[in-house]
Amino acid sequence: MSTGNNFCGINFQPAIFNASGAWCASETELRDLGKSSAGAILIKSTTLEPRSGNDKPRFFTNEFGSLNSMGLPNLGPQKYKEILPTLRQYKKPIIASIAGMSPDHFVPISQHYLDAGVDALEVNLSCPNLVGKPQIAFDFEKSRNILQDVKNIAGKTPVGVKLPPYPDPIFNIQMAHIIRELKIDFVTVINSVPHCAFIDSEKEEFVIKNKFGGLGGKYVKPVALGQVRRFYELLEGKVPIIGCGGIETGKDIVEHFLAGASTVQVGTQLMKEGPQVFARLEKEFSEELEKKNCTAKDLVGRAKPREKQLGEMLDY
Ligand code: DHB
Repeated sequence: MSTGNNFCGINFQPAIFNASGAWCASETELRDLGKSSAGAILIKSTTLEPRSGNDKPRFFTNEFGSLNSMGLPNLGPQKYKEILPTLRQYKKPIIASIAGMSPDHFVPISQHYLDAGVDALEVNLSCPNLVGKPQIAFDFEKSRNILQDVKNIAGKTPVGVKLPPYPDPIFNIQMAHIIRELKIDFVTVINSVPHCAFIDSEKEEFVIKNKFGGLGGKYVKPVALGQVRRFYELLEGKVPIIGCGGIETGKDIVEHFLAGASTVQVGTQLMKEGPQVFARLEKEFSEELEKKNCTAKDLVGRAKPREKQLGEMLDY
């Protein structure tokens, strides 16, 4: 059964690839993705100038997920542009993630990648780790202007937006208006859940230097599924959604698809397991599809509300 999907003129085979940020900043990491079973290569969120990021320790994992305060370490668009031709040998779609440190940086960064011929742009309006800088995605006017500017220069190259988990659906509604009005090509949800903290009770210290970071992994799967479904409904299934958050198994992928995702990204589990995670997930997803006797595409948005009160549920 096909684990692939095709949208925005891009063929994802399988419809599983890395989340921006995970294993995708250095040339070696990008080549590793190329050699893996990932269905695309997504480059680390890129700022106009290279950055070394926040002080370490800045990444932590446990059995339930991860906490990161990376601070956008990346090689800058010029370097990624140089690396790009070598990534073409892997014959996978290549997507760039754009993260301006100021609103007027989004166009020049995007232009570098358009010149290099990337297959799509993912505009990151949700970096949670820049101290003193609010996530742009909560400022709807600024978000609209940035997306419009990038759309204006992108021509036929698809432009998507990466969003944070919104704590109230009114925010999803406002963003959905912008997505429709500007004909944004895809939506990636969710970025990590911001300003979370883990504390080591024995050492009486936070696990990362910045104290606060973005949460990912198993902890966030229900948050991600809620956001995927909100946007699937608000956009009436007409704008493809990339589901991201808490994918560890083939069943998790099925849940994202049932919620409304057309493909998925993997972050925390990629960091824990390395790029071989994609071969395992593809196999597990394929087995789940066999059991259901359907393709990945058939699953998109298929989850329905539970109707029957079941014995194991509290009868409130
Ligand atoms: C970083 C983390 C994110 O979740 C993101 O979207 C962009 C950047 C980071 O800290 O590098």
